[in-house]
Amino acid sequence: MSVTKGEFTPAVAAKCLQKLSSLRPTLAIILGSGFHHALAGLRVEKKIPYGKIPGFPLPSVSGHAGELYFGELGGTPVAVLSGRAHYYEGHAMERVTFAVRTLAAFGIRDLLLTNAAGGINPKFQAGDFMMLTDHVNFMGVNPLRGPAIPGRARFVDLTEVYDLELRTRLMQAGKAAGLKLQRGVYLAVSGPSYETPAEIRAFATLGADAVGMSTVPEAIVARHEGMRVAAVSCITNLAAGISPEKLSHQEVLETAERVKQSGAALIEVFARLHEKTK
Ligand code: HPA
Repeated sequence: MSVTKGEFTPAVAAKCLQKLSSLRPTLAIILGSGFHHALAGLRVEKKIPYGKIPGFPLPSVSGHAGELYFGELGGTPVAVLSGRAHYYEGHAMERVTFAVRTLAAFGIRDLLLTNAAGGINPKFQAGDFMMLTDHVNFMGVNPLRGPAIPGRARFVDLTEVYDLELRTRLMQAGKAAGLKLQRGVYLAVSGPSYETPAEIRAFATLGADAVGMSTVPEAIVARHEGMRVAAVSCITNLAAGISPEKLSHQEVLETAERVKQSGAALIEVFARLHEKTK
């Protein structure tokens, strides 16, 4: 499927969303594992299953619902995406990032990406949160590969993917929410297998503090669309070989559940600060 031609373009999907809700938020949040509890604090105006939005891929991983919400979080109008399409599910990159292009076409200017990640930095513990300062794209693909999109840069500068002002706001939100927000570099792999201990040692040498299977394609496409981006990881486990334990999706889900209040508080305060500065 191409997002530049045919029926299912991001512009068409955005028009559909504009018809379904009268809210016009400028902030969108994509929820990954560890952050879904943010929905509990959302004053929902409209809940839209992804299946109702033309072109939206349906996520298949447990713990990812596949619904877009319009509502108010911390008094701020927001679009919240619960569930995302991952590259490891077999989707083309165009599909993985379709939602981000749709949000841009809708009028979203600031995007907060959240995810679950394995901790590589030896100072990190399972249950910590990490604000992304930068990333390493180790997925082996770039979401901008393909025909140039008219009106968009061919070669996108990624010197500062994660916006400095939003990063400051995220650190403030962390403080106000009473949690210690680590900072670091997120390295993205395609997955779905977890890494080997040798890979994790290599990634540590490359400067990575955490490893995960999402976010980077969305961040690159968001920058392509001119949006400001911030991102935060829930460190759901220590990466392979860092702890003697074997990795499991179960552990990821259990840690996410254990720290869900903190993840939700962080996002809610971040949304509240958005309103103050607009
Ligand atoms: N590796 C890759 N992705 C992940 C991990 C991990 O250890 N934990 C959560 N997502």
